[in-house]
Amino acid sequence: MRSPLIIGNWKLNGNSLILDTLVNELNKKLFSIKKCQIAIAPPIVYLDRISKSISNNIKLCAQNVDINLSGAFTGDISAEMLKDIGVKYIIVGHSERRLYHREDNNYIAQKYAVIKSLGLTPVLCIGETSIENINGKTKEVCKLQIDTILDCQGITAFKNAVIAYEPVWAIGTGKSATPLQIQSVHKFIRNYIAQQDIDIADELIIQYGGSINITNAATIIIQPDVDGFLVGAASLNPTVFSNVIKIVETSKNLIKNKN
Ligand code: PGA
Repeated sequence: MRSPLIIGNWKLNGNSLILDTLVNELNKKLFSIKKCQIAIAPPIVYLDRISKSISNNIKLCAQNVDINLSGAFTGDISAEMLKDIGVKYIIVGHSERRLYHREDNNYIAQKYAVIKSLGLTPVLCIGETSIENINGKTKEVCKLQIDTILDCQGITAFKNAVIAYEPVWAIGTGKSATPLQIQSVHKFIRNYIAQQDIDIADELIIQYGGSINITNAATIIIQPDVDGFLVGAASLNPTVFSNVIKIVETSKNLIKNKN
C-alpha cells in the first residue's frame, strides 16, 4: 500500500533566519501527521543546518546533485555528501534545471543512476511544456522522459523511486492541471511501468506538482493514481503547506475507510 508523500521544494528562497522560523513552524504544525511521508527541499547550503533542527517525521530532500561522487569538479556536490548529512530524497529532472541549466534526458539519467547507486530515493520530475500540451504530446513526452532511464537502467530503477508529474505550464503559474487531466497522465505512467513489472508499478509513488495550494489539493489527491504532491511556492508558507498535508492525510484516509 502506497502512503502519500508531500515534498516542499523551497527552490532559491530564504536565509538562515527565515528558514529557521519556517522549520520551527513546521515542526509544531506537523507533529501529529502519521499517515503521510513529508520532506522538505531547502537550498543545499542550508541542508546540514536544517537536518539538526527538523523533527523526525520530516525528511530531507536535496534539489540537485552532481553525476560524480568525488574529484576535480569545482562547485559540484555529490550524492555521497548529501547522504552523509542525512538526505533521503533528491529531485532530478526538474523543468527549471532542464531549462536554465540545459539538462537533457541523458544527463538526468546519469544523475538518477548515481542517486540509486547510493540507496537514496530519486524524485524524477517529468512533464510537458505548454506547446507540447496544446499539440497533444503530453503522454509521448512523459514516456520519453521515463524511457531514457528504463533503457539504460532497466525497470528495477523504478523500485523505491518517486515520479513527479509536473506540467511545465502549471509550475509557478497559479494554473494547475485539472484533476481528470492529472489522473489520466498518472494512470498512463503507472500502466506503462506495469507493462514491465506490476509490483513496481503498484508501489511507485507518483506525485503531482504545479501550483498546488489549499484550494485544489483535495480534488486532486482523491484521484486514485495521485500519491502526493511536489509543492513549490505554497511550501514557503508554513500554514498553507501544513494545511495541504492535512488535506492529503484526511482525504486519502476517507477513501481508504470507504473501500
Ligand atoms: P509551484 O512549483 O508549486 O510553485 O508551482 C512546483 C515545483 O516546481 O515543483
